[in-house]
Parts: sequence; C-alpha cells; structure tokens
Amino acid sequence: MGDQHKILVVGGAGYIGSHTVRMLAEQGHAIVVLDNLVYGHREAIVDETVAFIEGDLGDAALLDKTFAEHAIDAVVHFAAFAYVGESVTDPAKYYLNNLAGPLVLLEAMRRHGCPNFIFSSTCATYGNPQYLPIDEVHPQNPINPYGRSKLMLEQVLQDYDQAYGIKNVCLRYFNACGASEDGIIGEDHDPETHLIPLVLEVAVGIRESITVFGDDYDTPDGTCIRDYIHILDLARAHVLALDYLRSGRPSMACNLGTGIGQSVREVIAAAEKVTGKTVPVVQGKRREGDPPRLVAAPQKANDILGWEAAYTDLEAIIQTAWNWMQGPRKGRYGDPRG
Ligand SMILES: NC(=O)c1ccc[n+]([C@@H]2O[C@H](COP(=O)([O-])OP(=O)(O)OC[C@H]3O[C@@H](n4cnc5c(N)ncnc54)[C@H](O)[C@@H]3O)[C@@H](O)[C@H]2O)c1
Repeated sequence: MGDQHKILVVGGAGYIGSHTVRMLAEQGHAIVVLDNLVYGHREAIVDETVAFIEGDLGDAALLDKTFAEHAIDAVVHFAAFAYVGESVTDPAKYYLNNLAGPLVLLEAMRRHGCPNFIFSSTCATYGNPQYLPIDEVHPQNPINPYGRSKLMLEQVLQDYDQAYGIKNVCLRYFNACGASEDGIIGEDHDPETHLIPLVLEVAVGIRESITVFGDDYDTPDGTCIRDYIHILDLARAHVLALDYLRSGRPSMACNLGTGIGQSVREVIAAAEKVTGKTVPVVQGKRREGDPPRLVAAPQKANDILGWEAAYTDLEAIIQTAWNWMQGPRKGRYGDPRG
C-alpha cells in the first residue's frame, strides 16, 4: 500500500482529475476528493476507497474540517474554469475561481502545515509562441484572462514556496484528450469545446458536422496544429510529481505534451478511420487568439520526473475516446445516451 498520508484532490470529479484519482487509488494512495460538482461528475470517481466531499475550494471552514479530519500532506489542484472565450467576457468569474479560490486553499494549507501542491497549469500561460517547440523558459505572455489567472497562480506559488516553504510542481498541460482504456470514465464537458469529443459526437450522429475554424494558416494543410496529450499520460505525470515532491525535491514547472503536432484535419481524418464514419466538415473563419501551432518541448518532464508520453499515435488516442463513447455510459455521466 502507498503512503499513510492522504492526498487532497481538488476538482477530482472533473475530466483530468477523475483519471488521476483512479490511477492514484489503483496504486494504493489514500485520497480525499473535494469538488463542488459545478462541472464535475460524482460518477467519475469509480474507486470505492476514495473519500468524496462535495464543496467549494473557497470554503475555509470546510477546508479546515477536511485538513483536521485527514492527514493530508499533498494537494493536487485541478479545480478551475477553463473556457477561454468566457474568460474574456467575464474575467471576474475566472479570477475569483482560478485565483482567489486557490488562495483560500493555500491559506488552509498554511494553517495545517501541508507542504506540497501540484497545480494544473496550461500552455495558455505562454500566449502566442515566439518559437517552437515551446520549452519552459519560453516567455509567459498569456493573451486571455484564463491564461493570466493560471500564470498569476504560478507566481503566487513561487512566493509561497520562498516565504512559507510550500513546494509546488506546476504542470503545464497542452491539449488533454482520450479516455480510460476500458471506456468506464472519459471526457464529459458541458458545454464541450474540445475537438476530439466534438468530432466523435458527429461520428455517433449527435452533431451534424464539425466546424473547422480557419484553413488558411501557415501550416501544411492550413488548419491549426496542437499537441494532443493522452489523459492517462497526464495522470501518470501527477503520480510522478507527487513522488517527486514527497521526496523533498525543489519546486519546478514543466510541460506535459507529446512534442508532436497534429492538425485539425489530421484529427478528423484519424477519427474517421477509427470510427469508420464520415465526418462532415463546415469551413469556418479563424477564431481570434488561436495561434497556428502549439507544440510542447517535453524534455524537462522526462529529465526531472522520468516522464514520457506513452500515447503518441493519434488513432490509438482517439480509439480510447471512442471506447468511452461506445462504453456503458456512451460518453456521458448522469444520463447515459440512449
Ligand atoms: N482539459 C485540458 O485540455 C486542459 C489543458 C490545460 C490545463 N487544463 C487545466 O486542468 C484542470 C482540469 O481540467 P479539466 O478538463 O479536467 O476540467 P473539468 O471542468 O472537467 O474539471 C474541473 C473540476 O473542478 C471542479 N471545480 C471547479 N471550480 C471549483 C471550486 N471552486 N470548488 C471545487 N471544485 C471546483 C469542477 O466541478 C470540475 O469537476 C483545469 O484547471 C484546467 O484549467 C486543462
């Protein structure tokens, strides 16, 4: 069995959180999940050993009670709002939940002497790339409030390390995708904005077509290129980051990506191959703030955490998301699609 200390996973009922919780639990770690279920799903926590608390990370009294009842030595923090467009029209919502909320959590950690923090950061903290692939010393100039809220929390974490000794690992994810191999848990965002689930919804007939935003970028097929990183690879990086912090190593930030870029057109073609269905495309205009290419340099995670993406084949990645769409829940918690 794992360490006798417990891990508090905040936002553990969400997409990336639930896969990480499952992997940690399978490895014998003791886990408490705190999630307000604003976007998460209780059913996504499948391991019976996991304690679940429904509540908000900004609730100081609830946090005090949680830290008092459980011997928590590490927090893994997934909870945030993550719709870039909404962050532009309603930045207050983002700064309150993604920055002010975690400050309440960090204060509770200080009060209870909890020393370790793993943070879901993002490639959006880099903004428009100045060079590719993007490494960790690339300047961080986010171009929207979502990215800024994440960068600001990274900076807060550096100060909290310096002054109070709370150690952090900031994991800057690129495009999370895929599902568990067995199709039991997977991606169910509402609204869904991510390319792979949207394309698969077309394949199952829930949507008529997929809109491709821009086909005149300076890329081989004219569509945007992104770095698709599988959810189980992300989950494994959290397990390694936890071991890293628990062994007393210094705070650090690293990218989590494959280092491989895939275009929107390539994703659609791979999904057609995996599903055997034709996916009708509607050509849309470019979206503001979409860089042509975002690709990670993942070397640092490899050097420091011993982490490397296992899923590098796009069809294999999409197959897992397809397993989830075809699985018992048909890609949706709560009310499985009939
Ligand atoms: N999905 C991606 O591609 C991606 C890429 C980069 C970074 N991230 C970051 O990773 C994290 C997880 O992303 P996800 O796709 O799993 O999102 P998600 O919405 O599925 O999960 C977030 C979870 O946090 C919970 N939550 C939100 N605010 C809360 C609060 N105040 N108190 C308690 N719980 C709260 C939600 O209910 C949800 O279960 C986010 O911080 C996101 O910014 C995601």
